[in-house]
Amino acid sequence: CLQLIVDKYLDHFQLSDKTIMDLSIRFRREMDKGLCRDTNPTAAVKMLPTFVRSTPDGTEQGEFLALDLGGSNFRVLLVKVMANGKQEVEMENQIYAIPEHLMRGSGSQLFDHIADCLANFLEKLGIKEKKLPLGFTFSFPCQQTKLDESVLVSWTKSFKSSGVEGKDVVSLLRKSIKKRGDFDVDILAVINDTVGTMMTCGYDDHHCEIGLIVGTGTNACYMEHMRNLDLLDGDEGRMCVNTEWGAFGDDGSLEDLRTGIDREIDAGSLNPGKQLFEKMVSGLYMGELVRLILLRMTKEQLLFQGKTTPQLLTTGSFNTSHIFAIENDKLEGLASAQQVLQGLGLDPSVEDCRTTRRVCQIVSTRAAHLCAATLVAVLRQIRDNKAAEKLRTTIGVDGSVYKNHPEFSRRLHKMVRRLVPDCDVRFLQSQCGSGKGAAMVTAVAYRLAAQHA
Ligand code: BG6
Ligand code: GLC
Repeated sequence: CLQLIVDKYLDHFQLSDKTIMDLSIRFRREMDKGLCRDTNPTAAVKMLPTFVRSTPDGTEQGEFLALDLGGSNFRVLLVKVMANGKQEVEMENQIYAIPEHLMRGSGSQLFDHIADCLANFLEKLGIKEKKLPLGFTFSFPCQQTKLDESVLVSWTKSFKSSGVEGKDVVSLLRKSIKKRGDFDVDILAVINDTVGTMMTCGYDDHHCEIGLIVGTGTNACYMEHMRNLDLLDGDEGRMCVNTEWGAFGDDGSLEDLRTGIDREIDAGSLNPGKQLFEKMVSGLYMGELVRLILLRMTKEQLLFQGKTTPQLLTTGSFNTSHIFAIENDKLEGLASAQQVLQGLGLDPSVEDCRTTRRVCQIVSTRAAHLCAATLVAVLRQIRDNKAAEKLRTTIGVDGSVYKNHPEFSRRLHKMVRRLVPDCDVRFLQSQCGSGKGAAMVTAVAYRLAAQHA
């Protein structure tokens, strides 16, 4: 009975199979719009060419630096790739904090900080004298004209440093490194985290041709045929396209599915009107979606005897990681719900804990199903490109929601398989982030640069 009341209350959050399929078809049209030269300028989904033309083939080798900026952690890595018959990769990595004032301060301060972290890392490993090739995983939408030039279109997620949008991030990083003057690197490639993930997973599974992230943000890339990439000249071979699907809906195409709560999240965000699909799906927003629903239900006397607390009223007080805990196995999940709610100064009844758990389930299931819809559009595009009756493909996946939510991956897989029963789709979780993938791309660029030197 309680479940019925909550389900009725959150009716608009529960998508039927028909709606999900319809959404998938809608997203496929958005992809077409982004791929086509004439319609791209007004397309919400940008379908950005990445200049990555092949997945790893096992011949990559050497010693590379990698930077990984834009997920929940900023990392500096040293990746050694050995192609000595049996492929091996060794990695050293260090997480560095990016203080909030740098995420939203001036761009030069942000890039100076990145250069400082890099210097510290090289010093610690005693390799400051070497000039190593570097691959930069920069997880934001960028216009690229080549692998080592990447102009930030717009910040997303929690970043909003001034003076970076419209600029080439490679030049900004080079400038900050030069300013220090105590070390040098050879920046050869900038890639999105989806691309890094696809390449990392592609090293172990040669069928991998899609990269998916469901973490702080959400996005996917895939290998597209050059003949469909109207934005670039040339018809031969394939190139990886960064869809930037987080921006799906920014032109109003998701209005029938967005709820009042989705509008509230958007209005309170750093980038109102932007990344509307991402705000319905990813980890940066999921906890806040739940908090706003709980708050509304409390005000309507459906929870906590109608009593709010200052904490429940505070933006950001309910984290996405709380959802992970609350959706754990029933008893453990209910105990977590009690703990989390008490932490918000509430005195929840058993019913309140059950309702909270149901709210979490509905919000995270919607996220998984929305993701399934867009992913299926990508799968159908690849299948049609190959004119294959039964597509066999692998999706490389990363991100805290996919990895840490107890049910998200299962729900996503199930819905994808239901929507495309005729595809043999495997999901491969990236084990070591996108650093290995960045090294793969850099290795290819390094080999080509050496050949042309
Ligand atoms: C990491 C990758 O493992 O996952 C990053 O190395 C990526 O490149 C990140 O951005 C995405 O997940 P989250 O949850 O950290 O945003
Ligand atoms: C945001 C970024 C995108 C990135 C995704 C996952 O959507 O715009 O580039 O891939 O987050 O980190």
